Amino acid sequence: MPSPRVTETRLPALGEVLVSEAQLRARVQELAAEISRDYRGEDLLLVTVLKGGLYFLADLSRALRIPAAIDFMAITSYRADSPSGVARLLKDLDEDISGRHVLLVEDIIDTGLTAAYLLRVLRTRTPASVAICTLLDKTARRIVPTLPIRYRGFEIPDVFVVGYGLDFQQQYRTLPYIAVLRDEPGTALGGR
Ligand code: IMP
Repeated sequence: MPSPRVTETRLPALGEVLVSEAQLRARVQELAAEISRDYRGEDLLLVTVLKGGLYFLADLSRALRIPAAIDFMAITSYRADSPSGVARLLKDLDEDISGRHVLLVEDIIDTGLTAAYLLRVLRTRTPASVAICTLLDKTARRIVPTLPIRYRGFEIPDVFVVGYGLDFQQQYRTLPYIAVLRDEPGTALGGR
């Protein structure tokens, strides 16, 4: 029998709104202003990891006051596919990043393992610089201590959140705000 699709099973319910639409809009504008000031006159490439960083990149890049190129990567997630802790590149960049300033635009940094893997990949290609801009930062769960996080939208507690690109089993990405997912009996947030 085929396994049931998530829409046919019970999704965990949404809890409190952690970051509202208005808060997201305001913070994205502030971050874009900082980035525009810091990278003025430079060859800036914004790199995002699909699919979670999609909305943040779209809003952030449109709020910039300087020219910038965008590009995408896709990787297997540590949790879902790589219990061994080995990530794999599913989609590489189209752009050559050698000599360019790369800003890795992340939806969320949790343990930091994903960002550390991406940084390793990017640094082998001799960019002029690599820094991170993350919308959300769950510092309480950090394993990798030294990440070049230059811009941070919001520091959040150790809760599982969805919306504005972040998903639970591919659901809830399209919410325009960020909400906590309630860990109800019968659902498996631990298997994210
Ligand atoms: P890290 O490697 O532990 O830093 O995890 C990064 C990835 O885990 C993110 O890019 C997300 O895909 C996923 N992730 C971590 N925390 C959450 C969350 O609260 N909601 C949705 N996805 C999350």
